[in-house]
Amino acid sequence: MIIAIDGPSGAGKSTIAKILAEKLKIEYLDTGAMYRAVTKYVLDNQIDIYDKDKLKKALNNVHLDFKDSCIYLNGENVEKAIRSKLINENVSEVSSILEVREFLVKNQRDISSSKSTILDGRDIGTVVFPNADYKFYLYASIEVRAKRRFDQNLSNETLKQIKESIRKRDEYDSNREISPLKKADDAIEIDTSNLTIEETVDKIISYIR
Ligand code: DC
Repeated sequence: MIIAIDGPSGAGKSTIAKILAEKLKIEYLDTGAMYRAVTKYVLDNQIDIYDKDKLKKALNNVHLDFKDSCIYLNGENVEKAIRSKLINENVSEVSSILEVREFLVKNQRDISSSKSTILDGRDIGTVVFPNADYKFYLYASIEVRAKRRFDQNLSNETLKQIKESIRKRDEYDSNREISPLKKADDAIEIDTSNLTIEETVDKIISYIR
């Protein structure tokens, strides 16, 4: 079984997906963390993402693993490091590059091919698994989303800075040429602005047979 959860930053995707995975006893794959880890690699190694050959070679050296809800980049736990302001500012641009998307989409399909998985991201229901068993599109007002990220206290930014950074990323992610953030035609839309985590989880479970 594949469950796709897409939507903009701060809509509650990863929190909800983690709980659902536990309740349904299936795997959880945070695809945003994968784009963030590749962004960290590119920045740390000063890779020119517009030099296709160099980028392809560099991606051959990127190995991603998940252990105990943490992402590992070439053996190093980068779960915390990938939530920084610097990564927030660069991840949308890196995610818009074809070679990066091809590399990570293949990775995501390989990881999920042999076991029931819930994946959250931007293009799961449209590109990665267009035939997913269930597709959900979560969204919320920008005020609510910025407040949620602020309360998570992951990046040392003010509420105003977070709101602006989310707004910019949403705009970039929704308007990029390749696999933009977009609701799949057959996805169930859920506005989480006025829902608690439990209410959102229950709502999603009510659709799953
Ligand atoms: O879910 P997140 O905020 O951690 O995602 C970080 C960025 O990664 C987001 O701005 C867009 C990109 N992303 C993507 O392009 N496709 C995905 N499936 C997941 C994330």
